[in-house]
Amino acid sequence: MTSCAAWLALCELTALTEPRVRTGYGTLMAHIGPSEGDTNSSSARRSWRAQLGPETRYLLDEDERYFLRQSLSTPCLDVVERATGATLVDLDGREILDFHGNSVHQVGYGHPRVIEAVKAELDRLPFSPRRYTNSSAIALARRLADLAPGDLSKVLFTPSGAAAVGMAVKLARFATKRHKTVSMWDSFHGANLDTISLGGEALFRRDAGPLMPGAEHVPPLGLAERFFGTDGLAYQRLADYIDYVLEVQGDVAAVVAEPVRWTTVAVPPADFWARVRDSCDRHGTLLVFDEIPSCLGRSGSMFVCEHFGVTPDILVIGKGLGGGVMPLAAIVARSDLDVVPDGALGHYTHEKSPLGAAAALATLDVIEQEGLVARARDIGHATLERLGALAAGSPILGQVRGLGMYWGVDVEPWAGRAPVDVADHLLYACLERGLSFKIGGGNVVTLCPPLNVSSDELERALAIIGSAATSLAKRLSAGS
Ligand SMILES: Cc1ncc(COP(=O)(O)O)c(C=O)c1O
Repeated sequence: MTSCAAWLALCELTALTEPRVRTGYGTLMAHIGPSEGDTNSSSARRSWRAQLGPETRYLLDEDERYFLRQSLSTPCLDVVERATGATLVDLDGREILDFHGNSVHQVGYGHPRVIEAVKAELDRLPFSPRRYTNSSAIALARRLADLAPGDLSKVLFTPSGAAAVGMAVKLARFATKRHKTVSMWDSFHGANLDTISLGGEALFRRDAGPLMPGAEHVPPLGLAERFFGTDGLAYQRLADYIDYVLEVQGDVAAVVAEPVRWTTVAVPPADFWARVRDSCDRHGTLLVFDEIPSCLGRSGSMFVCEHFGVTPDILVIGKGLGGGVMPLAAIVARSDLDVVPDGALGHYTHEKSPLGAAAALATLDVIEQEGLVARARDIGHATLERLGALAAGSPILGQVRGLGMYWGVDVEPWAGRAPVDVADHLLYACLERGLSFKIGGGNVVTLCPPLNVSSDELERALAIIGSAATSLAKRLSAGS
């Protein structure tokens, strides 16, 4: 897509994403809750657990006994037994449409082409030791260089997104001979010590001790209006603020950000990133886009940056790259950033994993051959309108936003309950009916199905949200 066409597509989407902002309260609350994941210690969670089968509850206890406990993971929600397409089957035999999937399942779970490719590679070359390369890794690097916009053409792989963001920061440091970064409060770029320094969520930073020096922060996407006004110029002011920080610091290596804040579905206006790109260019700062959860077609373009007509200096991708099977992430950098032949950017043991590369190549084949990028655009628009209509008929559903096949619906306060509480109850009401999703920012229902989810499954998911929202609103009104 040309950048102009991309711009127009985004403008159209932006118009669609603002069908109604019910109250400032709903919008603001959307972004001050716990950003990553839902709370797992609520009364709704306890009621959910109570109805699970005895073997499931036994395994949940065993999980807690043998794994180091940590927030967002412990205690676990359920025990999953099988995963196919858009569906998880739990140990009790309950079928759950997975509209969460940790953003790894663009092509659905266990796509036959991906499984076949991984099995074939497993028989051929299960591992590629350091100092050797392999044809699959090279083919994937070449494919990504061809797909990525602009001059992004030099690649490194790692097994995890956080490690990939870490490599991007190291490359920016080496290339600019500077060490500072500018990233956003409330952002998430992975759970390693360097990436929690870039990130802005207290949950990950609290009690972790000294973080990476020089990690500066600016207000997050999604809170621009809270800090910079509701007169339509908030993002312009946020861009000006970033420009100011780059200017006064004068020695920032990289701006690191998600082009769209995934967890709260915060989509900035079409010209926002072009302004930041321009600032970076004027101040000798590299622009690093973290598209780990959002890349590979979900947004209706192969990469989210294409919607903004902006090419970063380093693009970081992951999650769905491994086809929902293998752990794989990558950086794709401008060719002239290949400036560290004698240093170490990655040096990860599974750096050129043939299995990961085989899974990724098959995933890209599926995305292309099944026309999933175009499908994300088509279904994205239609579903956004459907969600808008659902929200219009429900007192607990508020603003609806989306980009391609990824949607967010703010949950509103209701019957004296805070939005975070209502959203938590809505999650379990949907789970009981067979739909899983993630609550982002405390009260944003985020919906992330496979791009090849069937129309029937999508209909079922929308029906579940509608019926769960209706009965929950009644139940809460009745005080139960
Ligand atoms: C925006 C973003 N960046 C980085 C990461 C970290 O990826 P990984 O869990 O593969 O380390 C995530 C994971 O959720 C993410 O959403």
